Amino acid sequence: MRAIVQRHTGNPDVLKLGEIPSPVPSPTQVLVDVKATALNRADTLQRGGFYPPPEGESETLGLELAGVVTQVGDQVEGIAVKDRIFGLIGSGGYAEQAVIDYRLAMPIPEGWTFEQAAAVTEVFFTANETLFTRGQLAAGETVLIHAGGSGVGSAGIQLAYQAGATVLVTAGSEQKIERTKVLGATAGINYKTHDFAEQIWQLTDNQGVNLVQDFIGADYLSRNLSILKFEGRLVVVGLLSGAKAEIDLGLILRERLQILGFVMRRLPVEEKARIRNRFVERWFDDLVSGQIQPMIDTVFPLEAAGEAHRYMEANQNFGKIILQVSQ
Ligand SMILES: NC(=O)c1ccc[n+]([C@@H]2O[C@H](COP(=O)([O-])OP(=O)(O)OC[C@H]3O[C@@H](n4cnc5c(N)ncnc54)[C@H](OP(=O)(O)O)[C@@H]3O)[C@@H](O)[C@H]2O)c1
Repeated sequence: MRAIVQRHTGNPDVLKLGEIPSPVPSPTQVLVDVKATALNRADTLQRGGFYPPPEGESETLGLELAGVVTQVGDQVEGIAVKDRIFGLIGSGGYAEQAVIDYRLAMPIPEGWTFEQAAAVTEVFFTANETLFTRGQLAAGETVLIHAGGSGVGSAGIQLAYQAGATVLVTAGSEQKIERTKVLGATAGINYKTHDFAEQIWQLTDNQGVNLVQDFIGADYLSRNLSILKFEGRLVVVGLLSGAKAEIDLGLILRERLQILGFVMRRLPVEEKARIRNRFVERWFDDLVSGQIQPMIDTVFPLEAAGEAHRYMEANQNFGKIILQVSQ
């Protein structure tokens, strides 16, 4: 089958269309003709050699898929050949065929394209877990979502808004900020022209926020903690600016703050299934009705995976970058 292969780690040019053997489903997996997959920051890290796939997973990039089931393992329940499904995989999405555990798959809503479905899983699961399961965001609270134009950010804004929270965001351009407001953000801060912590104090009447959803890491740590209300929470979801920073434990102690981490890829399938189930229970109806929507920025053909990576690394996207694998 055709897939994106890389002979060595490096810049986006290492991603080439090639041929690899088709995967074989285990008893709890289904084999899927992949129609679309999506980029995630983890793919760019893996390509560069900084984020190897968990043991036993394919070396091929791709953490999610949408497609048609062609084969079903002996222990699979609720999914049949020819079903249109989408869902979470540990790797292997940049290929014409991939395997997915049936517990991590969902039916594609009627009338949806494969590209739409491919844009949901990774970012909506991550947003739901970090805002609610880890961050305990409640109606009436205020959340700051950094990188509001990112895939995860654009999903998180919608979920937090639907949950009755006030949503503040940061982003690197006025255009991205305007687009976050359409999704439910009350106000946005251009972090390139303003200090976000100073702006948060102004926007909240010196109250601060209950929760920060952070993808930036080291550069933002002290400011993130400084803007939290009493008993506020910081959820660390990404480390776009690095991992090492100094911390004022006095602030944590006095303000009873919490710093919570989140990672999804290395979790056992049973835990990922709980993540999938929490999302489905709370949000699937809203997804079907259009109340919440995947944001698609651009669709590239599979063979242009390198170009798509370059586009992501230039921070140009608002929402998801999709790879169309076949029609
Ligand atoms: N822990 C997990 O399990 C998990 C799961 C999914 C994603 N993530 C993480 O979540 C983050 C977002 O992922 P994504 O796929 O949604 O990303 P994305 O769509 O590629 O968006 C990332 C955005 O972050 C902003 N950005 C990049 N570097 C920055 C910096 N140094 N300072 C401030 N802003 C910066 C850019 O927007 P601007 O134009 O606004 O600068 C960029 O477009 C990544 O760090 C990813 O690794 C973690």
